Amino acid sequence: MSARTEAGKRIEKLLAAMTLREKVGQMVQLSDCGGVTDGLRQRLREGRIGSMLNVADPEVSREIQRIALEESRLGIPVIMGRDVVHGFRTLFPIPLGLAATWNPQLARACARAAAREASRAGYHWTFAPMMDIARDPRWGRIAESFGEDPCLASDFAAAMVRGFQGNDLSDPDAVAACAKHFAGYGAVEGGRDYDTVHLPEGLLRDVHLPPFRAAVDAGVATVMTAFNELNGVPATGSAHLLRKILREEWGFGGFTVSDWCAPAEMIEHGFCTDLRDAARKALLAGVDMEMQSTAYADHLEDLVTSGEVPPGLVDEAVRRILDVKFRLGLFDGRRPSAAGPEPKPEPAHLELARQAARESVVLLKNRNHLLPLSPAVRSLAVIGPLADDPYEVLGTWNRDGRTEETVTPLEALRQFLGGKTRIHAVAGLDYTRSRYTSQFEAALDAARQSDVVLFFGGEEAILSGEAHSRARLGLPGAQDALIAEIARSGKPLVLVILAGRPLTIGSAAEKADAVLYAWHPGTMCGPALVDLIFGTDSPSGKLPVTFPATEGQIPLYYAHKNTGRPPDRMPLTLIDDIPLRARQSSLGDSARYLDVGYRPLYPFGYGLSYTEFGYFNLEISSAKIRAGERLLVSVEVANIGAVEAEEVVQLYIRDTVASLTRPVRELKGFKRVRLRPQESRTVIFDLSGDVLGFHDAGMNYVVEPGTFHLWIGGDSEATLMAEFEVIA
Ligand code: NOJ
Repeated sequence: MSARTEAGKRIEKLLAAMTLREKVGQMVQLSDCGGVTDGLRQRLREGRIGSMLNVADPEVSREIQRIALEESRLGIPVIMGRDVVHGFRTLFPIPLGLAATWNPQLARACARAAAREASRAGYHWTFAPMMDIARDPRWGRIAESFGEDPCLASDFAAAMVRGFQGNDLSDPDAVAACAKHFAGYGAVEGGRDYDTVHLPEGLLRDVHLPPFRAAVDAGVATVMTAFNELNGVPATGSAHLLRKILREEWGFGGFTVSDWCAPAEMIEHGFCTDLRDAARKALLAGVDMEMQSTAYADHLEDLVTSGEVPPGLVDEAVRRILDVKFRLGLFDGRRPSAAGPEPKPEPAHLELARQAARESVVLLKNRNHLLPLSPAVRSLAVIGPLADDPYEVLGTWNRDGRTEETVTPLEALRQFLGGKTRIHAVAGLDYTRSRYTSQFEAALDAARQSDVVLFFGGEEAILSGEAHSRARLGLPGAQDALIAEIARSGKPLVLVILAGRPLTIGSAAEKADAVLYAWHPGTMCGPALVDLIFGTDSPSGKLPVTFPATEGQIPLYYAHKNTGRPPDRMPLTLIDDIPLRARQSSLGDSARYLDVGYRPLYPFGYGLSYTEFGYFNLEISSAKIRAGERLLVSVEVANIGAVEAEEVVQLYIRDTVASLTRPVRELKGFKRVRLRPQESRTVIFDLSGDVLGFHDAGMNYVVEPGTFHLWIGGDSEATLMAEFEVIA
């Protein structure tokens, strides 16, 4: 008998032996609230808790599991969850930074390392990866996302699921992954967290659902429902999402968990009358486990006994939860119990964190090739609130990291340069929101005494992440003023921006000679930045999200529709140049702003290198293909500069005419290549014909006949183009 059949039998046996109360218990998840209290002990003994989250003390974790296994009637283990989002003890770049690597294999390795560390601490399950498509940088959780594009996010979602779950979920160092937040959460109105979401079904399916589908196809064990309502129905009460799409259409076999108190919040949404109603609606919709609120614990038993919900739905949910517990090896004692903290993170994990941070950094500007600096530089001014802050650079989910293990930029610079270079370090501002200018003079002095000025600023970790949306996206506090002050020195100025989202850094960037955008890079922030600043490696990150010039342009994303009056069809007269009493239609009527035009500050996919890449000889295998047939696309990419570097080659398409209008460009493939100076390589994309489609008005996925345009290049504004026809 196969292990799966064997597990299936054991699950059925258990189900037959369980009381209704014990079944409901499996569907209950509670957060640690101060160790093993008498109440908790009692509930564990009675089999009334199936899962816990955030049990950080290994002793408490071991005791909870011992009680469940040894003192409860059926000895069903508790599944322990934690938000292991961008690392555990070793912190990797925030997911938005990981996405900027355009290297899903690297993200997979980071997830693997995080799973190893978290499993040692007694966790079996991470609430990650988050794969909400985020097209609004005001939304604080954009930091946790893979950015704005479904193709990029899908590859990262699948890769991280595979990394967390390893080759086999029962391996002691694998953790169950959780695809979240299902669904539409990234499209909250105004970028305000938890707000309303309206998404036409086609947009939902074409843009917001693909990463979830990719996660399901990669075998994700669990899915978390979103807080938001979607088209009037809270996601946690949506049978359309949880039963029809997730289970019927995609065949998802794992279990679903609500987000924190999301069932109870359906009352506030105006969708449920009370907790009992919330329990009924969540179960009918397809929520298997409830996180933290007590709708299931308090009401499910009674709802079943009174016949208001069919008992079969409870059995189904419990079967799925037990199945994941079996797959994790929790029943077989194959998992080590929670151990105390390791003395140090593994060197291999730190090396990986350094590589990931390095690949995540995007070079936005490099006037006159200021970067890389020579290691022989005689003096450096190191200025800015994040130059030596070991906490803020860890990013939003930093709970299990250690500040004493972070290597800050200043520390790394000192280590790398030794005593040869004079370093003039002045914070200038003590933290990013500070408005005190008392250190400005000292900062300017430091700049004047130095050959080059490095400024490390951005936003603190707390300014992004859950519930931390911002309406203003400039550098917080007096950072702009500080940059203006040090720019007065006339010394070459490098800005290193560390942030959880795109910031509107246009005016600061204008004053600088070079800009590195480093997100929140994690534990190995400093060494990774030093590798790039001094050219041990070349920057190779590319933006996973469009950078608006100003907040008023939001939403701004590359895969927009063309409209009947595209923004670039007329020359633009900016507001200051409009003649007085100009006639209403004299400026050219098109889809853009009079004051800020339509151009982003930096487009999606953008990122410079210390070398330059040329793209030549774009060829396609056929000028005509049938729907569903594949197309081979090849291009020669050459390093035409003087240093070895990596380039992310990007392929975009446009379906020029369709029964529902299509975006002006859509990413359909990307590849990272490393090239030595003067080396060139033919890069081949095997474009499967079915990535060319969309959901039509009847919600069928179709590839419609007609002309397609295709571009290959180093960002979403690539100009090397080919054309092909899809024939019926
Ligand atoms: C709420 C967040 O939305 C979710 O992403 C997280 O996993 C849970 N809290 C648990 O911490």
